[in-house]
Amino acid sequence: MKIAIGADDAALELKAALIERLEEKGYEVADYGIKEGYDYPDVAVEVAEAVAKGEHERAILCCGTGLGMSITANKVPGVRAAQCHDVYSAERARKSNNAQVLTMGQRVIGPEAAKVVLDAWLESEFAGGSSAAKVEKMEAIDRKYHPEGVGI
Ligand code: RB5
Repeated sequence: MKIAIGADDAALELKAALIERLEEKGYEVADYGIKEGYDYPDVAVEVAEAVAKGEHERAILCCGTGLGMSITANKVPGVRAAQCHDVYSAERARKSNNAQVLTMGQRVIGPEAAKVVLDAWLESEFAGGSSAAKVEKMEAIDRKYHPEGVGI
C-alpha cells in the first residue's frame, strides 16, 4: 500500500520519524514535502484531495497539534481524518470511523510514541457491521453539502 504523508514546518521531525517507521514496515511512501509559503491548510488540502481522488488509500498529516491538518482535511468531501495521539483512538479511527487520514502533532507527542500510534492505525481495518451505517450517514452529509458529487 502506498501511503501519502505531509507536514507543515512545525512537524518535520515527526514526519521524518513516521516515514522511517513506514519504510521499516515495507510501505511505499509518497512524501508531499513542503513548498515555500505552504501552511498546514495548503498541505492538508493537497493530500486530502489526492485521497478523495483515490490516488492514495491512506494518508498521514502532521502539524504542531494535528488539529489544523484534521480540520482542513475533513473539509474535503469523502475524506475522514482523525487526530489520534493514543493507540485506542487510532484503532477506533479505523475500526469505527474508517478514517483514511491520520493526523498527529509534533508538539503533542514524541516520535517513538507516535510510531506506536501509527502502528495501531496501520494494523486496524474498518470493522463494517453496525459501524457501516454510521459511516454512510457521514457520507450522506458530504452529499448534502456537495450535491455535485463527493469525488474531486
Ligand atoms: C503552526 O502554524 C501551527 O499552528 C500548526 O502547525 C498547527 O498546529 C495548526 O493546527
